[in-house]
Amino acid sequence: MKHTLKFSLLVMILAGCASTPDTSNLVAEARQTAGGLVQTLGGELKGAMTNGGPVAAIGVCKERAPRIAAEAAQRTGMQIKRVSLKNRNPKGVPDAWETEALAGLEQRLAAGEKPETLDTHGIVNTPEGKVFRYAKALVMQPACLNCHGPADNLSPEVKAKLAAEYPDDKATGYTAGMIRGVLSIKKAL
Ligand code: HEC
Repeated sequence: MKHTLKFSLLVMILAGCASTPDTSNLVAEARQTAGGLVQTLGGELKGAMTNGGPVAAIGVCKERAPRIAAEAAQRTGMQIKRVSLKNRNPKGVPDAWETEALAGLEQRLAAGEKPETLDTHGIVNTPEGKVFRYAKALVMQPACLNCHGPADNLSPEVKAKLAAEYPDDKATGYTAGMIRGVLSIKKAL
């Protein structure tokens, strides 16, 4: 009797493992994709800031960020977007998983984890099947303040441009070191 119980427990545990896909490859791929995107976008942003100043660089964030993400999505078969609790792009609203991920990342940052490597992942059951989810924290650096900082950091030109392009902008008032949002990656399994 005891043995049967042990055996069935073992079967249950093994069955549980089998139904949870191994995510280590996916995590590695998501990390690589996210890291590459942050680097590419950061480089373009820096270049645009140096060449044309923050007003011109707003265009990079608006036009290039979604395009760079779309290119990476096509290459990897993953869905990629940027979301924030205080979004600038009206489409950048986090869903339930992303909201929870953001809360967890905030806690880990507060507990002293390094911002550069702050990310999280999981498998979510949906009516269409299992979906792999990944989120990388995007942390505010001094250069981001020109367009996301407190009012003092934003030039009148930047304020005017943001007001014209994003009438419902919530993405200002941040200081360096804060989590601005996440780069969110999804892949159907
Ligand atoms: C030149 C101005 C500018 C700078 C500098 C800038 N951003 Fe942005 N940011 C924008 C604009 C404009 C958008 C909206 C883009 C869009 O339409 O999708 C945006 C959107 C975002 C989003 C997407 C979520 C949302 O609110 O729509 C994140 C995350 C973000 N920025 C993080 C950063 C970080 C981190 C930095 C610094 C490394 C940074 N930004 C620097 C202008 C800027």
